[in-house]
Amino acid sequence: MRYLLFFLIVFCLLKGPLVTGQGINIIPQPVSVKQPKIAASFTVTPATIIVLAGSGLENSANFLNDYLQQYYNFKLKIAKSSSSKNAIALNYERMNKRVPGAYNLQVNNNGIYIAGDNEEGVFYGIQTLIQLLPPQAGGALAIPYVSINDYPRFGYRGMMLDVGRHFFPADFVKKYIDYLALHKMNYFHWHLTDDQGWRIEIKKYPRLTEVGAWRSGTIIGHNPGKGNDNTKHGGFYTQEEVKEVIAYAKKRYITIIPEIEMPGHGSAAIAAFPWLSCFPNEPTKVSENASDISKAAGGKQVQERWGVFDDVFCAGNDSTFGFLQDVLDEVIPLFPSTYIHVGGDECPKNNWKRCPKCQARMQQLGLKTEHELQSYFIQRMEKYINGKHKKLIGWDEILEGGLAKNATVMSWRGEKGGIEAAKQNHDVVMTPTTYVYFDYSQTKREDSLVIGGFLPLEKVYGYEPIPSVIDASQSKYILGGQANLWTEYITNPGKVEYMIFPRMTALSEVLWSPKQKKDFTDFGKRLQIQFKRYELWKASYSKAFFDAQTNLTPTSN
Ligand code: ACM
Ligand code: ZN
Repeated sequence: MRYLLFFLIVFCLLKGPLVTGQGINIIPQPVSVKQPKIAASFTVTPATIIVLAGSGLENSANFLNDYLQQYYNFKLKIAKSSSSKNAIALNYERMNKRVPGAYNLQVNNNGIYIAGDNEEGVFYGIQTLIQLLPPQAGGALAIPYVSINDYPRFGYRGMMLDVGRHFFPADFVKKYIDYLALHKMNYFHWHLTDDQGWRIEIKKYPRLTEVGAWRSGTIIGHNPGKGNDNTKHGGFYTQEEVKEVIAYAKKRYITIIPEIEMPGHGSAAIAAFPWLSCFPNEPTKVSENASDISKAAGGKQVQERWGVFDDVFCAGNDSTFGFLQDVLDEVIPLFPSTYIHVGGDECPKNNWKRCPKCQARMQQLGLKTEHELQSYFIQRMEKYINGKHKKLIGWDEILEGGLAKNATVMSWRGEKGGIEAAKQNHDVVMTPTTYVYFDYSQTKREDSLVIGGFLPLEKVYGYEPIPSVIDASQSKYILGGQANLWTEYITNPGKVEYMIFPRMTALSEVLWSPKQKKDFTDFGKRLQIQFKRYELWKASYSKAFFDAQTNLTPTSN
């Protein structure tokens, strides 16, 4: 017996790290990963079956099958029961940690077993299983024996995509949603309207997309531009397409929050309906870099450059509110999301200051500043949204002049707005420019056109969504975080991927993994395998992670 034990110890020492193949490289890092002393593996083959031991698990089985089909060129049979050990069994189980999305995953000589506290949990177990597959096709799909227990740290794990500045077709939006799913993220914030384009069909107002979804050109280079490309740009989603995208996201346990911007960033809607402006007869100021068509046209224009524009929705005119309520009457039934995003950011008050209707409204209501008028605007919309049993969410400017009663705040101008909102007992989603604006450069050696700023991977990874100045009783108001991808300088899907990868991968760990498990060095090792996964997906990604090595310079000694 003693000899046996001796040989066993020597065997283990010789064997080194007890994992097979590429090892275990899961991102976001799970709460607990345990490997057996002796390395062994389960091989997924076309003969492996998926067993659904509960109802409602088809989404998870189908996602796995679609992934296997797309990247490994085979699919598995799905059964309701089986005694085979060559099986991936999906089931429900009450987890110790009763958090939506909690799951456990076992790979051992009984096959693969994934249990979730709810459907979502099983789905996240499938995402982990996918990351246990070799990141390239061609060889055996050997999965190391392992026991994983896992659940998310935050309930809100989001990504925003701006489709206003540049339009991205529904098929790419679905791909973006898949990227979220593969990172166990659960909110997609769809920024649908802006100065440069209105992107959602509203049946009562067809001009919104006939006129507002198109611009006659786009500036060349950085704002204010070095000329204009004089190329028509635009597009929009029909309500049928929107429904399809929502259904697609639902199968991935992702909630889509629609954003309809107000009272600022409304140029595209104003181009369609000038009466939404304080000054319907004042033409849009076009710059020397406007397109030839726009220079010749006069009147209200969909913007062709970037920035913040004075021509905003009139807050003194009741028909503005009627219009926005009509729009929401079509948006709200489409989106199952509890949250409806109304923007609220970057609304200059210059027009309101000189608009007789806005000034009359202020006088009538005893409002002292235009910030209070903005607060009135948002509060009026909140009442309407709450009346439809939905919650208003907006950018942190909605704090100015007084926060609407039940509003959730997206803190983007740093963490200040989020801290203030949490202190007022309001829910908060953290999206500070300093850590999660993925339109910023991720390398000092960027050779494509980027808005500016510098946000390297390590900084994203180091983000802590709960500000240190918030006490324990208020930290519950921090629902989680989200990265924003504004697309002024992002014109195509490949660039979107390049800007989000690998920073979104880092963010997924910030939002999912226990704080004490975060370790950038270890993340960097796992990231090597993630790079291979991006390649498997044929997704573009930034290699700026390697900049540090190439930037090293020898010291004098
Ligand atoms: C924003 O970046 N204007 C929310
Ligand atoms: Zn006005």
